[in-house]
Amino acid sequence: MFERRPLIAGNWKMNLSVKDAVALTEGIAAGMGDLEEVDALVAPPFTTLAAVRQAIGKSKIFLAAQNMYHETSGAYTGEVSGRMIQEAGCTHVILGHSERRSLLHETSQDIDMKVKEASVLGLIPIVCIGETLEEREAEQTFDVLKKQLDESFQNCIIDQLLLPSTILAYEPVWAIGTGKTATPDQAQEVHAFIRQWIETTFTAGASHQIRILYGGSAKASNIAELMAQPDIDGALVGGASLKADSFVPMIRFNQ
Ligand code: PGA
Repeated sequence: MFERRPLIAGNWKMNLSVKDAVALTEGIAAGMGDLEEVDALVAPPFTTLAAVRQAIGKSKIFLAAQNMYHETSGAYTGEVSGRMIQEAGCTHVILGHSERRSLLHETSQDIDMKVKEASVLGLIPIVCIGETLEEREAEQTFDVLKKQLDESFQNCIIDQLLLPSTILAYEPVWAIGTGKTATPDQAQEVHAFIRQWIETTFTAGASHQIRILYGGSAKASNIAELMAQPDIDGALVGGASLKADSFVPMIRFNQ
């Protein structure tokens, strides 16, 4: 038995047409069948959210957006608000993915404002953190992660409130889309550090409840050994989430 309910989440990034997104959703729903003990989630691009929501139908797949803006509405050309993604059927939102941090210059301060807005709206944030290869090689991993955590949750720290539904994702930048997965021991070491940070910064109760996902070249062949680690509660999957054939076996990792 898992202490926390496992969650396997697919981050589709900027991929798939509406037609392909619907077909993939249907494939995942069919592959899941009546699976009870694992949560599944997909995060499609904004333009396919409504169609994917419809394709999910009555199956138990959670829907997330890949980003949102921290304001509810207004003159913010090109941005999409939390309320809008909720209207499209999302219950979750990925915040602070490393591609947004590095390519789109999103800072932990931006992410902090988004975490706050998501919590106000009742959207569950999946907050991503991770170190680069240079940072790991310079033995700065834990300092970098602590800084990202302290800054991305600054509002929560001030309010001393971290909702137990909040999800964290440890995604070492050097493992994303590279085929290089962190070893189960490397990932566990960081997950334990993050859980300890939650306990020290908030409460022991929150640290026991909050799910911490691993992301970075997770796939069907390595998911079971990652999930065998005590502090790994699931995975945020990029490449392997784009086909039902590779994603469904990950959701069924313990069968
Ligand atoms: P990957 O991506 O599984 O393709 O490495 C993970 C992610 O970026 O969320």
